[in-house]
Amino acid sequence: MRLVVTGGAGFIGSNFVRYMLAEHEDVHIVNLDKLTYAGNLENLRGIEDDPRYNFVHGDICDAVIVGKTLRGADAVVNFAAETHVDRSISGPQDFISTDVLGTHTLLEAVRRLEIPRYLQISTDEVYGSIEEGAFTEESDLDPSSPYSASKAGADLLVLAYHRTFGTPVLITRSSINYGPYQYPEKIVPLFIANAIDDLQLPVYGDGLNVRDWLYVDDNCAGIDLVLRDGVPGHVYNIGGGNEVQNLTITHRILELLGKSGELIRYVTDRPGHDRRYAIDCSKLGGLGWAPQVPFEAGLARTVEWYASHPEWWRTIKSGEWREYYARQYGGTV
Ligand code: NAD
Ligand code: DAU
Repeated sequence: MRLVVTGGAGFIGSNFVRYMLAEHEDVHIVNLDKLTYAGNLENLRGIEDDPRYNFVHGDICDAVIVGKTLRGADAVVNFAAETHVDRSISGPQDFISTDVLGTHTLLEAVRRLEIPRYLQISTDEVYGSIEEGAFTEESDLDPSSPYSASKAGADLLVLAYHRTFGTPVLITRSSINYGPYQYPEKIVPLFIANAIDDLQLPVYGDGLNVRDWLYVDDNCAGIDLVLRDGVPGHVYNIGGGNEVQNLTITHRILELLGKSGELIRYVTDRPGHDRRYAIDCSKLGGLGWAPQVPFEAGLARTVEWYASHPEWWRTIKSGEWREYYARQYGGTV
């Protein structure tokens, strides 16, 4: 299979590239990535010399480079996106450009070049918050942030291309991922790195918001399965079945690192902060998927990875990250 992966230098994309090369002897992957602040070729260290892998530096909004890169592909998996909710609140423009218009650029190329399979990587955030129960793939979209609204817009375009043009699309909507190579602006890597350095952990609001944690390899396995066995035009939820409050995960990270709860600092809440996400994953279960990594083991493995790879996140923290951190937390932590 000649597979084009976009955004393969980011967190989930790089884990997916590794996963696919390890799982499938006969795959050839072209990774198209703009290398934004979140893209990092260090995430792919060790696989650059694999003859089954190529990197193309480019923007998914650039129709010329997209056309050249996708020509002859058997499948495209689109991870490329602006992904951080807080950044979408302080500056939504890049989210509209990449997440909506970039997706449209890819869809046009897929249609024109008659690529047999297109998989859009989406998120449980498109459904919005839910107090009880869980969203299915049929639930209405009700996004809260500019990020999730952009992802929802992209999902609707993807499905419209299927309905209107018969484009062979698939969508996965996963819950929040954790694991190695995640940019330290998201709660898990940020709190681990801060705790290691005895810096404060900025908990938004009352810390009781709930997320459903999914170990990144389990997401990769789900995406691989949908890519092979999913029905065109269909959406598949991928969740870990681990609903945990932010404060609980914060305390667990501190315990795993042997640090004190005094590092916790309650800060102003995120505007429009969704209270709880929950998705029903029985549809993907019907294809034979189930998460393999229990939350406790996955979190311990994740903490261990960041603790043993300080050079990876310290390098990031010396660059653009510092300005972002000062802007976001305004010197409160
Ligand atoms: P990330 O922010 O770590 O990486 C994004 C990657 O996309 C980077 O390598 C970046 O350079 C690249 N990129 C950004 N704009 C681009 C453009 N215009 N052209 C080409 N490349 C571009 O993201 P992530 O957390 O790995 O998320 C990957 C995908 O999964 C996203 O679509 C996101 O919405 C979705 N998702 C993420 C999570 C999560 O918990 N992280 C959960 C559900 C869904
Ligand atoms: O649910 C899937 C989504 O998960 C993905 O679509 C997004 O790309 C990904 O970033 C993630 O979004 P969240 O907003 O849930 O992730 P984040 O790590 O930013 O925040 C997780 C929770 O932690 C959320 O309730 C806000 C809270 N939080 C976050 C940060 C960065 C804090 O309390 N303090 C913080 O400093």
